[in-house]
Amino acid sequence: MALQDGALEISGLKKSYGRTRALEDVTLRCRAGTVHALLGENGTGKSTLVKVLSGVISPDAGKVSVFGRPLTAGSPAEALDAGVVAVFQEVFVAPNLTGIENLFLGYDGLFAKRMPLARKREMGEATLRKIARVPIDLDQVVGEMPLIQRQLIVVARALLRDPAVLILDESTAALDMNSRDALFETIRALVGNGRLVVFITHRMDEVEAISDDISILRAGRNVATMTRSSFDAKEALRIMSPEIASRSANGGET
Ligand SMILES: Nc1ncnc2c1ncn2[C@@H]1O[C@H](COP(=O)(O)OP(=O)(O)OP(=O)(O)O)[C@@H](O)[C@H]1O
Ligand SMILES: [Mg+2]
Repeated sequence: MALQDGALEISGLKKSYGRTRALEDVTLRCRAGTVHALLGENGTGKSTLVKVLSGVISPDAGKVSVFGRPLTAGSPAEALDAGVVAVFQEVFVAPNLTGIENLFLGYDGLFAKRMPLARKREMGEATLRKIARVPIDLDQVVGEMPLIQRQLIVVARALLRDPAVLILDESTAALDMNSRDALFETIRALVGNGRLVVFITHRMDEVEAISDDISILRAGRNVATMTRSSFDAKEALRIMSPEIASRSANGGET
């Protein structure tokens, strides 16, 4: 498959929670070999979209396909099988298990079951070395680790699955600059390899540093998609929240 082909095709996704319309209508295409940033104010549906893409929740309507393969709605196993791996905003860990146990949690393919612990440790340490610029004791119980270490463990857990589509939902928020830069290098290597990374952040400097394409969600809709060369942070903020932008523009005039 050529690099420009669609790695992720999303059409007409809708999802409501009671009266809250988290996804109103999201239609979006993400290219293989790119970092596709998703921007949007709080509550615009970004994390809901992540959960639909990874099969954790079922949409009310709409379709998702990954590298040309249509996904059955609400099937985490199928999403995983298609190579979709998400790092959720909530930083899900098993707090009573150790770092090494968390790294291979849910990684229950035959291959991993048979893998000796020493091999797991070797793979886990090698993956963590790529992104962690703080020491992590893999024998420590994860619930006792500071947030930055827990965040690095869940990102490493995702990388260990060799994702075709890696989704990072505000995964840099808890990281220090060095680990974040190391993660960016890892992201570049992944997309250089034809993968897709969907990158959710609130930070414009991160968007400018890492993304190829940028989409903006507003009230559950994808309202704009642009390439980095045409990206302008002020314009993006205006699209994200036109009310705030017009208020501050009026304030500037008086
Ligand atoms: N499990 C749920 N039950 C009820 N409402 C929900 C649930 N999850 C999300 N929502 C609502 O759906 C809307 C979209 O939420 P979502 O978490 O997808 O936004 P977001 O763009 O990820 O926001 P943030 O930037 O704060 O992470 C919000 O109004 C939120 O309160
Ligand atoms: Mg969110």
